[in-house]
This record gives sequence, structure tokens and C-alpha cells, in this order.
Amino acid sequence: MKIPVLLSSRLIQKRIKTLSRQISTDYKNKQPLLISILNGAFVFTADLIRHLTIPIRCDFMRVSSYGASIRSSGRIKIVMDLDISIKGKDIIIIEDIIDSGFTINYLIKELNKRKPRRMKICTLLDKKARRIIPIKIDYCGFVVPDKFVVGYGIDYNEQYRQLSYIGYIR
Ligand code: IMP
Ligand code: MG
Repeated sequence: MKIPVLLSSRLIQKRIKTLSRQISTDYKNKQPLLISILNGAFVFTADLIRHLTIPIRCDFMRVSSYGASIRSSGRIKIVMDLDISIKGKDIIIIEDIIDSGFTINYLIKELNKRKPRRMKICTLLDKKARRIIPIKIDYCGFVVPDKFVVGYGIDYNEQYRQLSYIGYIR
């Protein structure tokens, strides 16, 4: 299947450089812990951190995903937890895409129980039109239309993660 382009690789890379610069400025003299949400955010995280000019730490977390289904169930659980304690730390959650907001809302609630000093949200994509739970996003790559997007780490049924661009399923 041919996947039409929504955001080109060049555009993504350019935007990520800007986001990294912004984060580096905002966290000057700090050492944030970046929490990358697997699997989707792994490519975005890898590119984002390589442009940062501040010291960081990075950890990973996996939450249950949609599986082969295209819609959010609203039932989420942690299937792989962090190794590093977040208590008293500046944390930035790195997501691939925020859709209904259920996943990130769950993560915000769970991670806040562990008493970080400050929590910010960074997402590559914001599918704003589908939001059910309002979410304050601190760093956003792109607002995308209500299409099922794939590529650049994001999958449909575990496929298309390897695309260097963001495309959509027709
Ligand atoms: P939410 O809980 O509805 O906000 O959805 C968040 C998660 O659903 C994301 O982290 C993705 O893993 C997945 N997701 C939402 N929209 C898409 C899409 O268009 N393509 C692929 N995955 C998506
Ligand atoms: Mg995800």
C-alpha cells in the first residue's frame, strides 16, 4: 500500500530542531528527565534529544495501546514502567500523538502520584479535533487533521513505523 505524505521528513526535522532549541532554553541550568512513551515516540525522542544542548536523562515507559483497532478504548494500563524515580524531578513526557487525550491524561495522573517537581508535555502530533479530555500541551510539533496517521515511529497494526515521514491511511 502506498502511504500518502502528510508531513515530509524535512519538515519534521526542521520543526524538531525548533522544539529542541525551545526546550534547551526553557531548561537552561536544569537537568530534565525525558520520559519517552513507547512504542510510538521512540523515533521522535531519538531525533529530539540529539539537538538538545542541555544535560538530560531519558527513560521509557509503555502503556497498553490500541492494538489492531483504530479507536481508543479509554482503558489504559502501564505495561512497562520507568527505571528512574521521578520524585522531585523536572520531567517531560514525550508522546507521538495525542488524540482523545485518554492516554496522556492517564499518564499525567499516574506520574503526578509520584510527586515530580514539575511535569511538562511534549508531543510530536496533536489531533486536536478528536480531543475528549482537555490537555495542556507545552511543546507540540504539529496539529494534524482527523486522519489515521502513520510513520516516523507511529504504526498501524505494527506497520509503517519505519517511514521517515508522517503519512496517513486512506
Ligand atoms: P489517545 O489516548 O486517544 O489520545 O491516543 C493516544 C495514542 O493512540 C497515541 O499515543 C497513539 O499510540 C495512538 N494513536 C492515536 N491516533 C493515532 C493515529 O492516527 N495513528 C496511530 N496511532 C494513533
Ligand atoms: Mg503512543
